[in-house]
Amino acid sequence: MNYNNIRELFLKYMEKNGHKIVPSASLIPDDPTVMFTVAGMVPFKNILQGIAPAPAMRVADSQKCLRAGGKHNDLEDVGYDGHHHTFFEMLGNWSFGDYFKDGAIELSWNLLTRELGLDPARLIVTTHISDDEATEIWKKLTGKDAIRLDKDNWWAMGDTGPCGPSTEIFWDFGESVPGGLPGAPDEAGRYVEIWNNVFMQYDRLADGSLSNLPHKNVDTGAGLERWAAMLQGVTDNYETDLFVALKNAVSDVTGAGQTADNVPSFKIISDHLRAVGFAIADGVVPSNTERGYVIRRILRRAMRHGQVLGHTGPLLSKLYPALVEQMAGAYPELARESARVIATIEKEEKAFEDMLTSGLKLLEKEIPNVAGKIMAGDVAFKLYDTYGFPLDLTQSILAERGMSVDVPGFDSAMSEQKERSRSTGVFKGGLSDESVETTRLHTATHLLGAALRRVLGDSVSQKGANITPERLRFDFSFERKVEPAELAEVERLVNDAISAAIPVECNDMAVADAHGAGAIGIFDSKYGEMVKVYKIGDVSLEICGGPHVGNTSELGAFKIQKEESSAAGVRRIKAVLGHKS
Ligand code: ALA
Repeated sequence: MNYNNIRELFLKYMEKNGHKIVPSASLIPDDPTVMFTVAGMVPFKNILQGIAPAPAMRVADSQKCLRAGGKHNDLEDVGYDGHHHTFFEMLGNWSFGDYFKDGAIELSWNLLTRELGLDPARLIVTTHISDDEATEIWKKLTGKDAIRLDKDNWWAMGDTGPCGPSTEIFWDFGESVPGGLPGAPDEAGRYVEIWNNVFMQYDRLADGSLSNLPHKNVDTGAGLERWAAMLQGVTDNYETDLFVALKNAVSDVTGAGQTADNVPSFKIISDHLRAVGFAIADGVVPSNTERGYVIRRILRRAMRHGQVLGHTGPLLSKLYPALVEQMAGAYPELARESARVIATIEKEEKAFEDMLTSGLKLLEKEIPNVAGKIMAGDVAFKLYDTYGFPLDLTQSILAERGMSVDVPGFDSAMSEQKERSRSTGVFKGGLSDESVETTRLHTATHLLGAALRRVLGDSVSQKGANITPERLRFDFSFERKVEPAELAEVERLVNDAISAAIPVECNDMAVADAHGAGAIGIFDSKYGEMVKVYKIGDVSLEICGGPHVGNTSELGAFKIQKEESSAAGVRRIKAVLGHKS
């Protein structure tokens, strides 16, 4: 049974049992509490909380998930075992106030043992220490004594929101794989969790207390990659049909054969290809902030492992067609967005390659000088400051040779650099008319830029601005007309920032530091080494010459007057500020 067969079998079974099948939601959640869709329930959070209506009382799907960065993070485990991924597919069934514990347990058990004919003796179950009810249901239905655990059997999406006790089903991959029972101190790869059934009954509030959700719900998650391993009789997800195909593509593109030594690199590249490909197809743009930064890091990590395999130059952009071939049948967006995804990855790979080439040369030159296996902090800082070589990259290259970096030394080199730059000349950005009115409108352009990026996505960048004492004009990259509802949301966000009375802070920084801090703006050398960075709370961080007001409360009500096309792929907004009462 290949991936497509398993996915289809699961959904057919749930459909037969009264579930409405819905398509996967985007990897970009409509929810500020998580960076990515980390579980199948994320798109259903509002339904679980009773805020939005359910499409049906029983629903099932196969959801694209990404666990990297944030609370649900598997990035560092990928490559070093057989069952962790950043991107994965989560098969799930939901009851929104319909069946509860017995219905959910029965559905799972029948699918595994009757439909799939799995040996019940190789299925191990766990329940929450508090959950006598689920434990008794298992005993009655299967004769099995559940292993009762605490933290492992409580599932929550985040620090707040829907949560509840769970029951997990594990597959015994057999004696050939080392590892103790679930919850045992020597837990390893032998027993792998293949299905989690969460009894979503509670809502965790901001003060930490639990309140009851409007209904008793069921949220389940089954990792398709683990099911593939279980059903294909292999002990490692990366030995299943889909990953064998992706790894063969890695071999074709890099020219490297698969050996016992390079197993992690093959796993990491094929995993990261899926994460980067799917995320960019869903609209993530590699950048220096938030989810754009996570994708940038994943892409760079894949390229580093390309180098371990002896490959230089673009990698994931060349592998992407293999991903389309394997997965576009189930996720047509991969093919539909193909040209854009490949172009985005290629651009990112070229920029990183240039940086790596010059940085690596310097690093190689410095390695023989490293005394006592610890690289001096100022050397690592020079790599960072001159080539934008992140400290963690230097550390990981050195770690491969049993060396490390003097991190306190790195930090003090960074502070010295900051101190030095305080006396040097400060960049003077110019506005034609530095009256109070233009200054206020200038600050409003920063809020507007930030709001546009929030509403329309990180791909929005400023293409120009013109400010008179009466109005601001702001040009930005965007492919289509901005809808009235989107404009209203942008206007609302700007006005929220104004009413929040946020101080506007200015710092002089080295370009590399501004970059590292995630500032947007022009990183051109024409701005010289030192730049001014304006910070408006957590709303905006931008390289800019100023001047700006001291606090957003100095702006009056913000109003968009017009949105129109300015040039191909560029839109223009005209806006005004009301007088401060
Ligand atoms: N939400 C549960 C999980 O992700 C099913 O494991």
